[in-house]
Amino acid sequence: MLDRLKPQPEDKIIQLMALYRADPRTDKIDLGVGVYKDATGHTPVMRAVRAAGQAVWQAETSKTYVALAGDTAFHAAMAALVLGDAVPAARVAAAAAPGGTGALRIAFDLIAKTAPGAKVWMSDPTWPNHPAICRDLGLDVATYRYFDEATGGVDADGMLADLGRVAAGDVVLLHGCCHNPTGANLTDAEWNRVADVLAASGATVLVDIAYQGFGDGLEADAYGTRLLARRMPELLVAASCSKNFGVYRDRVGILLAVAPEGTDRAIVQANLAMLNRLNYSFPPDHGARLVQTVLDTPALRADWQAELEEVRLSMLGLRAQLAAELRQLTNSDRFDFVAQHRGMFSRLGLTPDQVARLRADHAIYMVGDSRINIAGLNADSVPVLARAIASVL
Ligand code: LMR
Repeated sequence: MLDRLKPQPEDKIIQLMALYRADPRTDKIDLGVGVYKDATGHTPVMRAVRAAGQAVWQAETSKTYVALAGDTAFHAAMAALVLGDAVPAARVAAAAAPGGTGALRIAFDLIAKTAPGAKVWMSDPTWPNHPAICRDLGLDVATYRYFDEATGGVDADGMLADLGRVAAGDVVLLHGCCHNPTGANLTDAEWNRVADVLAASGATVLVDIAYQGFGDGLEADAYGTRLLARRMPELLVAASCSKNFGVYRDRVGILLAVAPEGTDRAIVQANLAMLNRLNYSFPPDHGARLVQTVLDTPALRADWQAELEEVRLSMLGLRAQLAAELRQLTNSDRFDFVAQHRGMFSRLGLTPDQVARLRADHAIYMVGDSRINIAGLNADSVPVLARAIASVL
């Protein structure tokens, strides 16, 4: 059997991570994988998460299994963080999962089992793992326009026109905030228009929210997700704690399912638990416990929010600096959108050849579509990047 296996296409983000690590140049700059780095290039354990780790370690007396869907205290804390009071808790079913990707996997799994003929609509472009997982499950993928290459902003009219073609029973995947890979995001007014179209469509919406708190703040970043929770008859939300709690390797994510009014929530809950059982039995608990401890301990929560805000503001500062440097060096406003974008990423609009030259000649690593991770920069490397970009234009 094993001798019949075919070589697999490498995920371009993970491949870039390996290329960067193998590059011996000491002045190399990593703007690839979406991992937050501080000004020294280090990905820290957040203060509140470290404190929660100590508390959990002291208090934990058993490592026995928790529950197939994970700990209900984690569900409640995450549902409140993501959904606020948009819908009554009695309508929300939840399953902890290994990271945001684990949550997406069981969401797409649920879709493949329940609505195998559904088309899954996703933004063009999107995170490459979205279509990869759908295709692996045999789901049809369609795209809606999203990014306006000319302005670096959202093509809202194109997006709305394409969403108008979604059929009842289809699934629409949206990025809750901090769009990956472009960094271009809907305004609140555009979210309202999107919700109007989707509420009339009969489609099911799945929101992927992996960067809450990295854009305009914890509450502002949840605007679209909460709006859809209120407006749509039902909603799926895959949330990741990798970035906003910095617990990447602990694999912490959750699938929230807002059930239609009048539906037996217990049946939805049992289905989510069964999907966990079939995929990996019990979800990892340790990281989820750290997150729940932070969220439910007022002092830790306040410190976490303060540190998350520091992270967010530092990325905004780097955006402003990069946009200003590029404006000066190119003598144009071509890259002003970098300061308008939010979250970790910006798509710069460079050609694959320019991206390749940045890597070969300047040891600057970015994804082939010219997505950069803003957090890979610091005040000293911004001018280096800006000069390198100007030199390949
Ligand atoms: C990214 O887009 O770089 C992150 O979401 C990490 C990943 O797994 O791709």
